[in-house]
Amino acid sequence: MTVDELKKILANKLSPKRYRHSINVMETAKKLARAYGENSDKAALAGLLHDCARDIKGDNIFFHCEKFGIAVNEVSKFQPDLLHGPLGAEIAKYEYGIEDVSILNAIRWHTTGHEHMDKLCKIIYIADYIEPGRSFPGVEEVRQLAYCNLDDAMITSLDRTIKYVITKGALLHPDTIDARNSIIMEKLRTDT
Ligand SMILES: [Fe+2]
Ligand SMILES: [Fe+2]
Repeated sequence: MTVDELKKILANKLSPKRYRHSINVMETAKKLARAYGENSDKAALAGLLHDCARDIKGDNIFFHCEKFGIAVNEVSKFQPDLLHGPLGAEIAKYEYGIEDVSILNAIRWHTTGHEHMDKLCKIIYIADYIEPGRSFPGVEEVRQLAYCNLDDAMITSLDRTIKYVITKGALLHPDTIDARNSIIMEKLRTDT
């Protein structure tokens, strides 16, 4: 399916606010892809589709996860919204015909992060964080970092997310810790 065909489908499936956000993430991901030598067509598809499962709520999420054989860990049982990444990847594959593994992983891990994220994964994670509709405290710092050093932008946004979750007294997903540790370890390896 082409980007234009997918846009038409998503415009009908998603709420207007979610659709606008998806378009913003797509445009931001394309810019980041150009800045970092990544394929901008892949970035566009991943950005457009990243929240395709975001409006599936409640027990419906668990129903669909079971249907696709998605493993649900203990944290996600308490915070089912975190499953819209893994579920979105399966929907992108089986309903929208996306076969590229890096696009699917970028959708799969855009909410929690993950160990060993590739460049496209990081681009979608950051594009979701900094798209022009976002206005939370600290977003400007990540916006600036995003075009200087993608890994520094990742570490700063993961740090902010982890601190926010702790302030709320909520559960931290282990993949978020793994994402942060693996990027810092990569940096330490290349620095030595
Ligand atoms: Fe999302
Ligand atoms: Fe999003």
